[in-house]
Amino acid sequence: MARKLAPGKLVIATHNAGKLREISALLSPYGMEILSAGALGLPEPDETGTSFAENATIKALASARAANLPALADDSGLCVAALGGRPGVYTADWAERQAFEGPPGRDWYMAMGKVEGMLAALGADVDRSAAFHCTLALAWPDEHVEIFAGQVAGNLVWPPRGDHGFGYDPVFVPQGHDLSFAEMEPTKKHAMSHRAHAFAQLVAALF
Ligand code: IMP
Repeated sequence: MARKLAPGKLVIATHNAGKLREISALLSPYGMEILSAGALGLPEPDETGTSFAENATIKALASARAANLPALADDSGLCVAALGGRPGVYTADWAERQAFEGPPGRDWYMAMGKVEGMLAALGADVDRSAAFHCTLALAWPDEHVEIFAGQVAGNLVWPPRGDHGFGYDPVFVPQGHDLSFAEMEPTKKHAMSHRAHAFAQLVAALF
């Protein structure tokens, strides 16, 4: 039986503005006072784990300890079937510019292009199926942790389409739909995404 989350302050252990926006929207009905690790100036730990659950736990525990408050972390990524599940836990790393690619920072268009280039190299009739995975870790200052996971299946399109969302949204069309996540109204994405599925479990268990 999961530990319940009492009303009060909750730190969102992310420095990613897109994730913060989505997590705040998903939590808005539950009356928590949301603080972000970025706004609190909490350190961003190295994601040294080899699974979404390990990395989510590392981030949640780091914020819970530093803020002395419950903290929620999301570790997520895109797993492409024809690439053996890559980029997976390294999804954000694939957007990191190398020195020869420009100033330090993340370039999502470049990252989507890397995935597309690897798929194209496998031939015109390559399997374009992929899934977004999301693992949520909620950590308390006494180091108790609860984990919830969700995923959404879909197909990759090229070129990128749409201006909403973040990260790889413009190239991901969820199964049974025609619009990419970046073309949909955010509320529609929030209702069906990997993050929404993980949140549904979190809400059922914690509130
Ligand atoms: P991390 O969880 O901070 O390691 O980063 C995961 C990366 O996966 C994000 O920076 C995004 O690029 C990508 N990602 C995760 N969730 C989504 C999503 O909902 N839409 C698009 N990209 C996502």
